Amino acid sequence: MKALVARAYGPPQTLRIEDLPIPEPGPGQIQVKVSAASLNPADLMMTSGDIREAFETRFPYVPGSDFAGTVTRLGTGVVAFAEGDEVFGFGVPPSYAERFGLPAVTSGGLAEYATFQANGPFVAHRPAGLAPETAAALASTGMTAAAAIQDGDFQPGETVLVIGATGGVGSIVVQLLVKEREAEVVATALPEYAGYARTLGATHTIDYLTTDVVTATRRLHPDGVDAIVNLVLDGDRLAEAVKALRPGGRVISTTFSSLGSEDVTVKIVDGPPSLRADTFPTLAARVLDGTLVDMISRRYQFDQAAQALADLAAAPNTRGKWVISMT
Ligand SMILES: NC(=O)c1ccc[n+]([C@@H]2O[C@H](COP(=O)([O-])OP(=O)(O)OC[C@H]3O[C@@H](n4cnc5c(N)ncnc54)[C@H](OP(=O)(O)O)[C@@H]3O)[C@@H](O)[C@H]2O)c1
Repeated sequence: MKALVARAYGPPQTLRIEDLPIPEPGPGQIQVKVSAASLNPADLMMTSGDIREAFETRFPYVPGSDFAGTVTRLGTGVVAFAEGDEVFGFGVPPSYAERFGLPAVTSGGLAEYATFQANGPFVAHRPAGLAPETAAALASTGMTAAAAIQDGDFQPGETVLVIGATGGVGSIVVQLLVKEREAEVVATALPEYAGYARTLGATHTIDYLTTDVVTATRRLHPDGVDAIVNLVLDGDRLAEAVKALRPGGRVISTTFSSLGSEDVTVKIVDGPPSLRADTFPTLAARVLDGTLVDMISRRYQFDQAAQALADLAAAPNTRGKWVISMT
């Protein structure tokens, strides 16, 4: 089979499409003919070596965590799926799965065939009507967004500043906050993405490059916002952003930071451990009923996969999700 392969740490330009043996599903795994995959910043980190101290990359390495495809073989013990089923979901490289005891290991989704662990919540049926690319764009961003919404305990009418609102996770967070939790969202967004942020449901947007986000938020909400969903900032930059909160406000963050304020509740969000069996089916249903709008901003074919990752690495900014069609 053809797969996008890294043979050593390096920039995305060193990735090549090569022939590899078709991976065989182990116990609890399914083999999938991949229809679509979406890209994540983590794909670049695993191949660049930037996070090698934490997660070793075993070569030859096939990137790709988020996928949609057709089940072609079942490992022993798989009861939830049958050959021919249309599925979508998420998997992580072996070193990541081992470190966190995460039952979601994959052989790598940027390949004609891949294996994924199917005895947990990380793979779901893809409903008819949900395009493979849309499903592939939904998985890891959706699970992280769902965890943020779950942990935030948002109430109708609350004001929420979303930092990183137009990225993959933020696109879903904003929509769920507005459409399901009836919150009022202030979104950080570059001017060219302000219209997109409003499409997602944000009431106000703040250009984080040219504007002081705390001052701009306080101008809109002088007493401070009820909550901040932070998908970007860490360290001192997050501690500074927290000044946009009202006393007793909440921070829901994908990055860890010591904020030095006792009057703020902080929850660190990690999508995979929080994933519930109904998360992917619910997210799929929200796309089909129109609650979640399509957030794909760039599409590539499989033979352009290395270029896609090189473009992602070089992009000064991105919006929503980038996807790769395998067929
Ligand atoms: N992808 C996943 O599924 C996943 C899974 C688990 C955890 N996470 C975590 O969730 C977070 C977000 O991931 P993501 O996939 O959504 O990333 P992403 O698609 O790269 O989105 C990040 C967004 O933040 C914007 N941004 C950059 N600097 C900013 C600043 N100073 N102020 C406000 N916005 C800024 C970026 O805009 P520019 O493009 O202009 O820089 C981009 O729109 C990360 O912490 C990631 O580790 C993600």
